[in-house]
Amino acid sequence: MLPDMIAFDSASRTFFLNGPASSYVLGVDGHGHLLHLHWGAGIRPGALGQIARLLDRPFSPNPYPADRTYSLDTLPQECPTGGLTDFRSPAVLVEHPDGTHVLDLVYLAHVIVAGKPGLPGLPATYVEGSGEADTLTITLIDQPSGVRVELSYSQFRDHDAIARSLRIINAGDAVRFVTRACSASCDLPTADRRLMTLSGGWARERQVEIAPLRPGLQGVQSRRGTSSHQQNPFIAVLDAGADEVHGEVRGLALIYSGCFIAQVEVDQYATARTQIGMDAPALRWRLAPGEAFQAPEAVLVWSSEGLGGMSRTCHRLFRTRLARGQFRDAPRPILINNWEATYFDFNTDKLIAIARKAKEIGVEMMVLDDGWFGAREGDRAGLGDWVCNEQKLPGGLRRLADGIEALDMRFGLWFEPEMVNPDSDLYRAHPDWCLHIPGRGRSEARNQLVLDLTRPEVRAYVYNAVAGVLRSARISYVKWDMNRHLTEVASAGVAAGVAAGEVHHRFVLGLYDVLERITTEFPDVLFESCSGGGGRFDGGMLYYMPQVWCSDNSDAICRLSIQHGTSMAYPLSSMGAHVSACPNHQVHRTTPMRTRGHVAFTGAFGFELDLNKLSPEDLQVTRELVVEYNRVRGLLATGDLYRLRDPSDGQAAAWMVVSPDRRQALVTYVRIQAVGNAPLPVVRLRGLDPAAGYRIGDETIGGDVLMAVGLHLPLTHDFQSLTWHLDRV
Ligand code: GLA
Repeated sequence: MLPDMIAFDSASRTFFLNGPASSYVLGVDGHGHLLHLHWGAGIRPGALGQIARLLDRPFSPNPYPADRTYSLDTLPQECPTGGLTDFRSPAVLVEHPDGTHVLDLVYLAHVIVAGKPGLPGLPATYVEGSGEADTLTITLIDQPSGVRVELSYSQFRDHDAIARSLRIINAGDAVRFVTRACSASCDLPTADRRLMTLSGGWARERQVEIAPLRPGLQGVQSRRGTSSHQQNPFIAVLDAGADEVHGEVRGLALIYSGCFIAQVEVDQYATARTQIGMDAPALRWRLAPGEAFQAPEAVLVWSSEGLGGMSRTCHRLFRTRLARGQFRDAPRPILINNWEATYFDFNTDKLIAIARKAKEIGVEMMVLDDGWFGAREGDRAGLGDWVCNEQKLPGGLRRLADGIEALDMRFGLWFEPEMVNPDSDLYRAHPDWCLHIPGRGRSEARNQLVLDLTRPEVRAYVYNAVAGVLRSARISYVKWDMNRHLTEVASAGVAAGVAAGEVHHRFVLGLYDVLERITTEFPDVLFESCSGGGGRFDGGMLYYMPQVWCSDNSDAICRLSIQHGTSMAYPLSSMGAHVSACPNHQVHRTTPMRTRGHVAFTGAFGFELDLNKLSPEDLQVTRELVVEYNRVRGLLATGDLYRLRDPSDGQAAAWMVVSPDRRQALVTYVRIQAVGNAPLPVVRLRGLDPAAGYRIGDETIGGDVLMAVGLHLPLTHDFQSLTWHLDRV
């Protein structure tokens, strides 16, 4: 057992952050610079020796000319800056009044406290008792300007994870601008590694991409105003030889929902500087004297058990200490959503008929999607006018909700509160309430504009609109959607002092402000985040909403790789996954009903079709799926995920979920493309108790056998799925 979570060795001025099996070590050198010394397997405080390598290197300048071996360019740094002797990517950039960016940050002070303070106005991981984490805050100062940087590190007791953030304080006497703030920056000592990103697009979010590091910059970013479908604020760096099961992997997540960068820069001496945070042009934050800028939190996870170990740590931490509210630990209701069943073409009778049929098979909640408000007959009009369209729904939401409740089902509702259609009463009344630049056009996407959440009066409108509807009827669930990215990012509030370089971040802060108020006022409502499917699947949104609609692509086969990639960082309990109709509406593929169900089990399970239109055979399968899901829903909500077979070769996927006490497990296998006269597939299971026997159907097989020898699978057809339920005897 390692000692304190955070220890300070005053003789060597070294800080040791110790997780259950990992250490993160940083130290102050003789000139006061903060060096990154180690992030990896656990080491004992004090046993470090001399790590920083001092060598006279050509073209690496010396800030202390008498010492030609000292250059920031060659040292592993913890908070690198620009303009001095380090030419690599900075973690922090501050523009001074003369346009220069030089900061020479040196150690000023530090404090270690038990617990983990929150980040005001920002989502962050948290603790439920001060014994769960220690927090170290190190203050660095640039003496000539007075600029200070506070680096904060919380080490969790039970997780090989550190929450890191930074605050930049302008203690000088002139206005300055923050143009880059990487909440994490780690100089990893070798570059024989690979970078994993979760990249894609609409309907194919979070595809796993793994590429070897090479000299220079590589990474991902979002300039779209949201974390985006295209890239995700989560990256991992894999050591040489690391894979799903073996080897050292480091994961970095930004707990943030707006523009970001995540990158690795391999320098001339094969140091892999790994960073995640915010950057210009989305960030140019004005700091008057005395003001501070708080950057979002980054979570750093280390695993010696490959990507699988990294993911399980992320899942446990994000599920239990990032997501909040009463649904955090509760099994989520099985829901049916009318979007793919009706699109905009619905009325009360149709909805009740869909709900009634769903109730028959055991569905617990009916969710009414887009189209219930204003002049919303299609996606051209109505956004912003959050008043029920009583022509479609006579008696309003209250009557509909009561009708659903009368079936002994809960009722849920779709909103897209951050948006406005130009064809809406809201826009006609307040044409300046959207993001726009006077004198330029207003680009539309899906016929809509983005409301300017930097402005308090707009936030008040959004809050009152949503809260008013939630108070008006028995609504147990909200799907909070966001269907375009940000362009012409400026605010009419500029006149009131909102500079253009702040609007991106202020928009996100405005959103968080609204979400905090709404979710606090309605603790009994389950919130699901959505952005054209999974366009804002990030730790920031998870703090407010424990589940996210994973993708608008509901095809079971496409979902295999989407959910596989999503599971790299985010827990199963957070992934909204529905059974939809075939041929599938996005890719026109036809898959067996059972496969659609088994794939949707992976997440917050539901349906998105009209069950009245199913054949008796398919309807019977949906009944059986609900029975099967009920048997494992507790397990799926809290179990550990083991990815057994990666779907990327287009042949098959397999995964299993094991309860924390290893008593119960569910194994799922999906054949993608069958091969003629194929070898019999075998999957080796993981995470079981090797000393125990597990009942599978009529057989009992040892955990050791299942893990060492594996489960022999029958040959199956295209798109067929199989599940095995394991119970420890
Ligand atoms: C987005 C969502 C869908 C649906 C539609 C409604 O695309 O991702 O699930 O809610 O909006 O317009």
